[in-house]
Amino acid sequence: MRLLNSQHHPTTLIMTLTIDTKLKLNSGYEIPQLGFGVYQTPPSDTARCVSEAVKAGYAHIDSAALYRNEGACGQAIRSFSREKIFFTTKIMPYTLGYESVQSQIDRMLNETGLGYLDLVLIHAPYGGSAKRKESWKALVEAVEAGKVRSIGVSNYGVAHLDELERHIAELEEERGGKGKGGVISVGQWEIHPWCPRDDIVEWCKKRNIAVEAYCPLVQGNRWGEPIVKKLAEKHGKSEAQILIRWSLQKGLVPLPKSVKSERIVANAQVYDFELTEEDMKSLDTGVYEHVSWDPTTAPLKD
Ligand SMILES: NC(=O)c1ccc[n+]([C@@H]2O[C@H](COP(=O)([O-])OP(=O)(O)OC[C@H]3O[C@@H](n4cnc5c(N)ncnc54)[C@H](OP(=O)(O)O)[C@@H]3O)[C@@H](O)[C@H]2O)c1
Repeated sequence: MRLLNSQHHPTTLIMTLTIDTKLKLNSGYEIPQLGFGVYQTPPSDTARCVSEAVKAGYAHIDSAALYRNEGACGQAIRSFSREKIFFTTKIMPYTLGYESVQSQIDRMLNETGLGYLDLVLIHAPYGGSAKRKESWKALVEAVEAGKVRSIGVSNYGVAHLDELERHIAELEEERGGKGKGGVISVGQWEIHPWCPRDDIVEWCKKRNIAVEAYCPLVQGNRWGEPIVKKLAEKHGKSEAQILIRWSLQKGLVPLPKSVKSERIVANAQVYDFELTEEDMKSLDTGVYEHVSWDPTTAPLKD
């Protein structure tokens, strides 16, 4: 524990970040702050990548039905201590619905062999209001049944998030009171210095919802950017390490992906330096350019 400069932050205590740093979720469970992504990791190579990541210190793996590699993630996780590794997966986009979510969760449990899923997210808001509500209800019931520990959403815009709060209130009425509508523990969005999504992050912060940052390395599209290059030289780190550290210092949960052994290790070596307030400010680019899809802008009625 470290006390920040008392003049500027009279009451702020910050924990020094380590690879073991965890965030407390609204569900009561904890999530390791550094995650490891497996989007586009070939299923046949996923067990190796996940095993190498766990050996390098990651305790949190981010998969999805869409990635077709949940089984391989489960296989690797089962070879370690189940309780020590946080596993996330996501409901297939464009397949929302009550029975669809129920059957997907059962398939995920079967394929991974993990016994329970730490976190299940609705991958994208596509499908319309009624389907979003039914899907959320199925997730809430999966938590009550002990199949899933925490639930959340990905790629929801502020309008979808506001609607989800209304759905939770309705479900509380319909299902018998406080808590029966479920709690939002985590949200996941593309976030990096060129797509900071301040409005969504603020919405989540107010409700203690953990914000995960996907594409923390901008999918490799921004190497050589002068501001990042300068910081990499200043701190003697790689540009990837600067971007991951930015995410961690923002209080986000970055999910860097790599299939390369040396990068898997290096991307986790981000705890031996600190970006100054000025460094952090220099990464406020004022730009909003996503590199992945952007369902946050999908209309409420689709
Ligand atoms: N919810 C969603 O809709 C959504 C969407 C996209 C992603 N995600 C999640 O977020 C994770 C991360 O996003 P992402 O995989 O799209 O992009 P990313 O992590 O920003 O970037 C991955 C790319 O960077 C390369 N890379 C990794 N480490 C590097 C390093 N140290 N130096 C140079 N290049 C490096 C990787 O290549 P190599 O593999 O060859 O190293 C890969 O091409 C995904 O895996 C997934 O779990 C979620």
